[in-house]
Amino acid sequence: MKKNAVVLGTQWGDEGKGKIVDLLTDRADAVVRFQGGHNAGHTLIINGHKTVLHLVPSGILREGVDCYIGNGVVVEPAALLKEITQLEAAGVDVKKRLKISSAAPIIMPYHIVLDQLREKAKGGKAIGTTGRGIGPAYEDKVARRSIRFGDLFDPQRLKDKLTETMAYHNFVIEHYFKHEALDLETVYQQALDYGQQLQQMNADVTADLHALQAQGKSILLEGAQGSLLDVDHGTYPFVTSSNTTAGAASSGTGLGVTDIDYVLGITKAYTTRVGSGPFPTELFDDDGAMMAKNGVEFGATTGRPRRCGWLDLVSLKRINQLNGVTGICVTKLDVLDTFETIKVCTAYKVDGQETNTFPASAESWEKIEPVYQSMPGWMSETRGMTDKNKLPTQAQALINVIEDYTGKPVHMISTGPDRNENIIIQNPFE
Ligand code: GDP
Ligand code: IMO
Ligand code: MG
Repeated sequence: MKKNAVVLGTQWGDEGKGKIVDLLTDRADAVVRFQGGHNAGHTLIINGHKTVLHLVPSGILREGVDCYIGNGVVVEPAALLKEITQLEAAGVDVKKRLKISSAAPIIMPYHIVLDQLREKAKGGKAIGTTGRGIGPAYEDKVARRSIRFGDLFDPQRLKDKLTETMAYHNFVIEHYFKHEALDLETVYQQALDYGQQLQQMNADVTADLHALQAQGKSILLEGAQGSLLDVDHGTYPFVTSSNTTAGAASSGTGLGVTDIDYVLGITKAYTTRVGSGPFPTELFDDDGAMMAKNGVEFGATTGRPRRCGWLDLVSLKRINQLNGVTGICVTKLDVLDTFETIKVCTAYKVDGQETNTFPASAESWEKIEPVYQSMPGWMSETRGMTDKNKLPTQAQALINVIEDYTGKPVHMISTGPDRNENIIIQNPFE
């Protein structure tokens, strides 16, 4: 049966989206990225072999699956070419299978410079961005001065746009940040060169996706980051610069909202966050250290250690609502195998008052004290399990608490990093 499904993260990113997208593409015909850029790091482990993808959709390792980068993604050509070269060296024919929207904004060298200069200038108040130029590139999109992917193939248009845009950015770089300006001709020649190398992938992705739909094919829409990093709904200003929630799957591809049949919300059995910003359930004790160690919690893009803490059901409930989540996928259950006690946050205390409500303002996030429900751990190995009935009763109890609290069913459980380590209760494509 034809079905289009969104797969997205419901925390602060790194929930295991890449692994799950790769797994589910055995039933999908195409995978499309709809937002974010190479700030994403999506890890796929197949028979012990690890691949980390940043811009290329996580369906690329399944032959016969078409891959698309939608108009909502910001594309850094050098990073994309590097990724393509690495994949092609491993025998994956990316250039034949990947199409890129001509409307996708390009991350230019001045965006990367600006991102890093701004972070440096903020000092202790830095957001902790990935330094990839994501924010400045999205700003230019909204300011209507982006160089878009299609511009790379029209030398005169590219020159005209770059001349105007770089005059603007160089002024800020030189006079506000007191940094050396970027050379127009160098940036222009480099952009033309990237364009030549990428041109065969230029496409009207929206038209292609609708053509696939007309043929009764199934499309998987792959989210990047997580909903708590959403520029509108997340922990602003400690967020990324795109909408990471389900609505972006439509605006970032050109599929209609009614074309989407299913939303899979991925959550770890605990929580992690990279970069700065509020994190009410963060742990600074041995439990946090054990999560980091068992879960190998280091960023797939920047290598930074991830902050770790307990699962926050108050925020998960809200995030599931705003994404219209159909089913939940709980990942990294096996990371909790060695915990005597497991906690989940079931309420917040703000200024001494207990509440179940997600805070309206980012400032109130800083004041939250988590209220926990404690549960006995299972203290046995769930790693690699594929049958829900064989899970220890305490692990099943945790799954039940998640379902009861959020009112959404758990449709999948990931029990290890490898493609085959899963419990599938209901496949989104069935
Ligand atoms: P993404 O950004 O959401 O795709 O997630 P990342 O790839 O950045 O981070 C998830 C990490 O957890 C990767 O190293 C995965 O290999 C690993 N992983 C995914 N699912 C599981 C799981 O169920 N158990 C364990 N132990 N590791 C997992
Ligand atoms: P995946 O797709 C985790 C975080 C950064 C920083 C904030 C803003 O692998 O889950 P940006 O460079 O986007 O302007 O940084 O967002 N961040 C991520 N954290 N996983 C990601 O992607 C992230 N992409 C951005 O650490 O706090
Ligand atoms: Mg990641």
